[in-house]
Amino acid sequence: MKTIFSGIQPSGSPTIGNYLGAIKQFVDLQHDHDCYFCIVDQHAITVPQDPKQLKENTRSLAALYIASGIDPNKATLFVQSDVSAHAELGWMLQSMTYMGELERMTQFKDKADGRSAVSSALFTYPTLMAADILLYQANIVPVGDDQTQHLEITRDIADRFNNRFGNTFTIPDIQIPQVGARVMSLQEPTKKMSKSDENVRGFISMLDTPKQMEKKVKSAVTDSDGVVAYDVENKPGVSNLLSLYAALTNQSIDASVAHFSDKRYGDFKGEVAEAVVETLNPIQERYNELIQSTELDDILTEGASKAENIANKTLLAAKDKMGLGK
Ligand code: AQP
Repeated sequence: MKTIFSGIQPSGSPTIGNYLGAIKQFVDLQHDHDCYFCIVDQHAITVPQDPKQLKENTRSLAALYIASGIDPNKATLFVQSDVSAHAELGWMLQSMTYMGELERMTQFKDKADGRSAVSSALFTYPTLMAADILLYQANIVPVGDDQTQHLEITRDIADRFNNRFGNTFTIPDIQIPQVGARVMSLQEPTKKMSKSDENVRGFISMLDTPKQMEKKVKSAVTDSDGVVAYDVENKPGVSNLLSLYAALTNQSIDASVAHFSDKRYGDFKGEVAEAVVETLNPIQERYNELIQSTELDDILTEGASKAENIANKTLLAAKDKMGLGK
């Protein structure tokens, strides 16, 4: 059975982008893979976080994973900072990663935006992400397409380690969904939808009320063309809503375009909003039950213990190969 690892940062309330790019795939994959799904809180602190809010977001994200269909009896669900092997291996891998490689990462460039007063952890983020994946000897990493570059550097670091010290890590493959791999901001459709966007109208949170979802879709930026067609370059707003609709209703883009061929933008947006609400409503109902319960804490404690068992084995092997310890 192949092993899967993936994580989401509790850096805000997850968006419909996080759902379609990541969580939705996880739910399908858990049935026939050995899955590790992580709440990567140590990645979240690469930018400033309010401690109380971070804890709340961590718990909330765990509840959303389960409410979306992750079954803790099938997949191992845990919080990154509960398994100290992540930070340890992250440090070891930093010693094998070049500054030039990290300087090429577009996520760092986007988030730093030319400022030098950003944390050094934001710069070394990819080495911790490599550790997350390699600790579980993951074969497949299901992510949205913004993570492609981070997966490539993970493969390079693993390969370098294996060549220098002998075979230690499995080289992982990336898996990107066919539709929904990059949901764009509703207000700036040439920019990725992000949970930490300061403009809350740019993203749909998985915990928005149906009214908020509807309002956000209806005020999404489109164009003055009046034709529902898929053309990312010339009609980024309409194309984004089309991909959103296709991913939510499990249809191809072509089928979605055909469905809206003679519709006006108002009706089109109305149906997209409906698809968003219909997907997120049942998830929110289950979420509201879970977030109050102690069941959630038990699931995360058990998950961390299972994850730790596997992670520590890999960590020990890697330390030994590098000559670390007595
Ligand atoms: N807009 C998106 N469309 C499709 N997939 C997406 N993902 C993120 N945004 C989109 C996927 O969600 C997973 C978790 O991402 P993350 O939380 O680790 O970090 P991120 O990619 O930086 O996500 P955000 O929402 O943009 O977070 P912030 O605002 O904190 O930086 C990944 O698989 C990602 O591909």
